[in-house]
Amino acid sequence: MRKQIIVTAMILSVIILIIQCQQSTKNNIVSPVLISKFARPLTNVTFTSSPYRLQRGQYLVNGVLRCFHCHAAADTNQPGHPPITDMLGGGRLLFGTDSIHLYAPNISPDKETGAGNWTDDIFVRALRDGIGHDGRALAAMPWWTFRSLSDEDMAAIIVYLRSIPPVKNKLPVRLLNPEWEKGLQNEPRPTADAPMPQPDTSTLLAKGKYLVTIGECEGCHTAWYKRNPGFFGGGNLIANDGTDSVIASANISSDSTGVGGWDEETFIRVIRTGKAGTLHYTMPWIAFKNIADTDLKAMLVALKSLPPVKHRIANGTKPTLCEVCGMIHGYGDHNKIVPIIPVNMNTKIYTSYAGTYADANKDTVVVLLKDKKLWVSIGEDKSKPIELIPVAENEFDGSGLPSRITFMKNAAGKVNSFVNHDLMPNNYSKTNKL
Ligand code: HEC
Ligand code: HEC
Repeated sequence: MRKQIIVTAMILSVIILIIQCQQSTKNNIVSPVLISKFARPLTNVTFTSSPYRLQRGQYLVNGVLRCFHCHAAADTNQPGHPPITDMLGGGRLLFGTDSIHLYAPNISPDKETGAGNWTDDIFVRALRDGIGHDGRALAAMPWWTFRSLSDEDMAAIIVYLRSIPPVKNKLPVRLLNPEWEKGLQNEPRPTADAPMPQPDTSTLLAKGKYLVTIGECEGCHTAWYKRNPGFFGGGNLIANDGTDSVIASANISSDSTGVGGWDEETFIRVIRTGKAGTLHYTMPWIAFKNIADTDLKAMLVALKSLPPVKHRIANGTKPTLCEVCGMIHGYGDHNKIVPIIPVNMNTKIYTSYAGTYADANKDTVVVLLKDKKLWVSIGEDKSKPIELIPVAENEFDGSGLPSRITFMKNAAGKVNSFVNHDLMPNNYSKTNKL
C-alpha cells in the first residue's frame, strides 16, 4: 500500500503544518533550505510546442490539476477563492506563520522572479519526483499524484506553462523548522523515469479512473490517520484552523452516504457551482468547474465503481467524535462501525496465506498467522495489526482496512499474491519461498 503510505506522509505534512501554525511563536529558529539526498541529475529533455499541447495543457492546468489553486494569488473574498486572472502562475504564500513560511513558487515564465530560466526537465523532476529547481524536496506539492500523468500530458502542461504571461512576483525562499527541513532532506523520492503511456480512454470508466487519479481526489477524500474506513470514504480533516470550524473531506465513495445516489446532473452542478458557492475553498471546485461535461461524467462513473464506504460527514454541524474514522467531524456521532460478517472457512489453509508480500515499489506487508487468525499491519502504526476476516473465497476484510483484499494463486494452486480494491488496484507478491 505504497500509495497510501506516500499520501499519508504528504497529507500529514500539511496537517502537521496546520498544528505547527498554532504553535508558531514557540519555535523561531531559522533553518537553511537543505538539498534532498534523493535528487536525480537533470537531463536535457525538451518539449516542442504545438496547438494541441497548448490547448491540452491549458485544459489540464486550469482544470483537474488545479495548479493555480496554489500557484497564484487568490481572491479570498469570492467563493472558492479563485486565482486572480493576471497573476496566474505567479505563486503565493501558501501557509504562513511567524516561524513557517511555505510558498507555492512563481512558476510563470518571468526570468527574474519565476521559471523563465528553468529547463523543461526541472518541471518534470518537480512534478514527478517532488524535487525543486534547486534540489530541495518539495513540501505540500502533490508530485505523488502528478507522477501518474502520461508523458504526453506532462509535455502539454510544460508547453502551456511556458506560454502564459510572465508574472513579476518575487517570493522569498521557504522557511520551515529544522526538523521538518531535515525530514524532507531524508524523505525518499523514488525517481519516476519509466515511460508513461497515454491513458486508456476507451471506456468512461477507464477515462474517469485516470482523471480521478491525477485530480488527487483520493488523497484528500480518504481518512488515512486513526482508522481508515475505506478509500474515498472521506473524513480527512483538510482544514482545522484551531477554531470550531473543522472541515472534513466528503465521502465520495459509491455508498448512499457518498455519491452513490447522485446522477450526472447533480455531480456536474456540485462541481461547477461548488454547491452554489457553499463548498469550502480547500475543495478545488473553482478549478474543477473547468472540467468538460464528458470528463466529469467519466469521473462519476469511476467514483461509483468504488466499493461503498458507510460514513456520514456534515461540515457546518457541531463536530463530534466519529468511531468510523476516529476523528472529530460534523455528524461524527451518526456513524457506527458495521461488523464484518465472516463466511465459513477452513482455518487450516491460513498457513498458505501467511507470509511477506511486497508491491512494485517494495512496500512490504506482512500477513501473520497468530491464534489461528490472520493479521496485517498497515499504515503508520504497525503495533496495532488488523484481523483479516474471510468474506468470500480467497477474500478478506478487516476493521480499519482501507479495502478488502483478494489473494491469488499460481498455476500450482499456491497463494502467491494479493490485490487490494483501490481505484487503481495495487498488487502485492509473496517475497518468501512458496
Ligand atoms: C496544493 C498546492 C499545490 C498544487 C495544487 C500544485 N503545487 Fe506546485 N508547489 C506547491 C508548493 C507548496 C511548492 C513549493 C514547496 C516547497 O518549497 O517546499 C510547489 C513547487 C512547485 C514547483 C517547483 C518550484 C521550484 O521552486 O523549484 C513546480 C515546478 C510546481 N510546483 C509546479 C506545479 C504545477 C505545474 C502544478 C499543477 C500540475 C502544481 N505545481 C500544483 C504547491 C502546489
Ligand atoms: C485539497 C483537498 C481536496 C481535493 C484534492 C479534492 N477534494 Fe473534494 N472536497 C474536499 C473537502 C474539504 C470537501 C468538503 C467541503 C465542504 O464541506 O465545504 C470536498 C467536497 C467534495 C464534494 C461535495 C460532496 C458533498 O457531499 O457535498 C465533491 C463531490 C467532491 N469533493 C469531489 C471531489 C473530486 C471528484 C475530486 C478530485 C477531482 C476532489 N473532490 C478533490 C477536499 C478536496
